[in-house]
Amino acid sequence: MRKKVIAGNWKMNKLASEASQFVDEVKVKLPQSDKVEAIVCSPFPYLAQLVEKAKGSKLAVAAQTMHYEESGAFTGEVSPEMLADLGVTYVVLGHSERREYYNETDETVNKKVHAAFKHELTPIVCVGETLEQREANETMDHVEMQVTKALEALSEEQVANTIIAYEPIWAIGTGKTATSEQANEVCTHIREVVAKLTSKETASKVIIQYGGSVKPANVDELLAQSDIDGALVGGASLEPASFLQLVEAGA
Ligand code: G3H
Repeated sequence: MRKKVIAGNWKMNKLASEASQFVDEVKVKLPQSDKVEAIVCSPFPYLAQLVEKAKGSKLAVAAQTMHYEESGAFTGEVSPEMLADLGVTYVVLGHSERREYYNETDETVNKKVHAAFKHELTPIVCVGETLEQREANETMDHVEMQVTKALEALSEEQVANTIIAYEPIWAIGTGKTATSEQANEVCTHIREVVAKLTSKETASKVIIQYGGSVKPANVDELLAQSDIDGALVGGASLEPASFLQLVEAGA
């Protein structure tokens, strides 16, 4: 039985005091159930303080991106080792906003996934199609290609421990959620792709999240789907009350 993983991706929002307050409030109210994992994906500057605050609670802290190199002349970048050293345990890789604005490619996503495992960070790998690709019936092929490249040369154990977030780009921050059937159809396909690359058993262990305008009003229906094991949430993760409702839906 796979657990549900609810990750709140704050993107470029919140000041340090707001981030701290959020964690203070949420960590004492999280459901104690082992059926659900709650993660906040914070901007870099707050990671250290949030990891400290979340210690001993059920809340995990993720970075929103990272470099794949160990160290060196990469001005402005943050390495996997730096994140691990702070006690960060998850990292979001290949978010469509990183792919669109910061030249993240399937190749760099794959390098980052390998680097994440090297430093015992769990990667949350984002994939998903544009509206044009959906309308041209290219969704399944596109997502298959992204998943295949992201997982290239990983061991079966690493694949089993990778979280894949299916985020149709047309549903991100638009208020347009994919219907739960549309979302599940693609998540099922992703699991089949993983099975083809590894084995059915490994594929059955992979956590596949849906992301794109998830909110308390639609989360139950999404999480009830056969292949949706959680959510990667932007807007609705910014307020403690709404984030808590999303996590409770998975408990
Ligand atoms: O990482 C989160 C996704 O991009 C979804 O964002 O919930 O604001 O649509 P959203």
